[in-house]
Amino acid sequence: MKCRFLIAAALAASVAVPATATELEVTHWWTSGGEAAAVAEFAKAFNAGGDTWIDGAIAGSGGVARPIIVSRIIGGEPMGATQLNHGRQAEELIEAGLMTDLTDLAVKEGWADFVNPTSLLDACTVDGRIYCAPVNIHSWQWIWLSHAAYEKAGVPVPTNWDEFTASAPALRAVGVVPLAMGQQSWQTSGAFGVLTVALAGPEVWLKVVKDKDVDTVMGPAYTAVFEAFGAARQLSDGADIQDWNQATNMVITGQAGGQIMGDWAQGEFQVANQVAGEDYTCLPGLGVNKIISTGGDAFYFPLVDDADIKAAQLRMASQLMSKEVQVAFNLKKGSLPIRGDVDLSSANDCMKQGLEILASGNILPDGNQHLSPDTNTQLEDLMVEFWNDKSITPAEVQKGYASIIADAD
Ligand code: GAL
Repeated sequence: MKCRFLIAAALAASVAVPATATELEVTHWWTSGGEAAAVAEFAKAFNAGGDTWIDGAIAGSGGVARPIIVSRIIGGEPMGATQLNHGRQAEELIEAGLMTDLTDLAVKEGWADFVNPTSLLDACTVDGRIYCAPVNIHSWQWIWLSHAAYEKAGVPVPTNWDEFTASAPALRAVGVVPLAMGQQSWQTSGAFGVLTVALAGPEVWLKVVKDKDVDTVMGPAYTAVFEAFGAARQLSDGADIQDWNQATNMVITGQAGGQIMGDWAQGEFQVANQVAGEDYTCLPGLGVNKIISTGGDAFYFPLVDDADIKAAQLRMASQLMSKEVQVAFNLKKGSLPIRGDVDLSSANDCMKQGLEILASGNILPDGNQHLSPDTNTQLEDLMVEFWNDKSITPAEVQKGYASIIADAD
């Protein structure tokens, strides 16, 4: 009897239970089915460590959530932790000294040795100090295609953008909307970026997004993209929806042929029990150039005085970066893990394609890493207006785009 008691006592001691179990309020905008399933993996890990995850989900995706998050931190009502996209979204908060420096933890745990690509840490680094824990690599560079819609239309599932646009009449003939697009402005602007990378190429895209080169915006390559995007506007006629996951659901249910959307759409297919390669097809780089962008989500931790909260923040940051949590979260989210030393053999075909492209090095930074939130918002507003008002010509929107890039900070 005594021996079993000693073993039980030893096991209990082995679970690192914090001296002071702490509640942390965590803000994020992961409210779709797939996103909620993924973020639940973070909460489960934090609670299993003896602390308490207080969920602060904000509906309406990033465009709604970010201003709320930023104003709370600036206004002195900080949450314990928050999701943001890694890149420039927290830049002003960091410069104002409002965010926790994670560098000591990152050095102690060797984040630079396992985070892959290391550019993810660069996107968390300001003046040589690390201020976020990157939790995934997500890529915008995908189109998701419904097998049911193409079976109904009696045409093969497209293998690239040109075949997709050519399939539109056959889809329309059976009452299927070719391209699902919700009304949130970031959806339209994101789709434009993906089309630019596919049709003009990554280098030309970088000349604009990174170098802010106005001549390139007005040049022949971008002219062709604005014209292609203008022509694509009619492809979403009839998709009267707002949220991105409603658009994904149109593809899942065969009401739409396809959706240009980041890999977070995968979480929705998974919650709907759809199988990549059987129920839907994913084309990285719209089937034109197999590429992924290495944007993503990261957790930031507002600076607080309370020592217990500070300690809990570091426990959470450490958990988010751990192998087991990285696998559990990213498999549900549909994104790629931030570390290359994990077993993702259970990943589906689309995730495996993303991992192969990542390993090939055909990667691209995300716009969030080069454009300020203010510039991003201006471009989003311009592109959603263009998409919804067919009286605006490609030449007119091109000029508007160029003037925003000219003033981009
Ligand atoms: C992005 C976020 C993704 C996904 C998407 C739609 O900003 O990084 O994880 O949530 O919004 O909400």
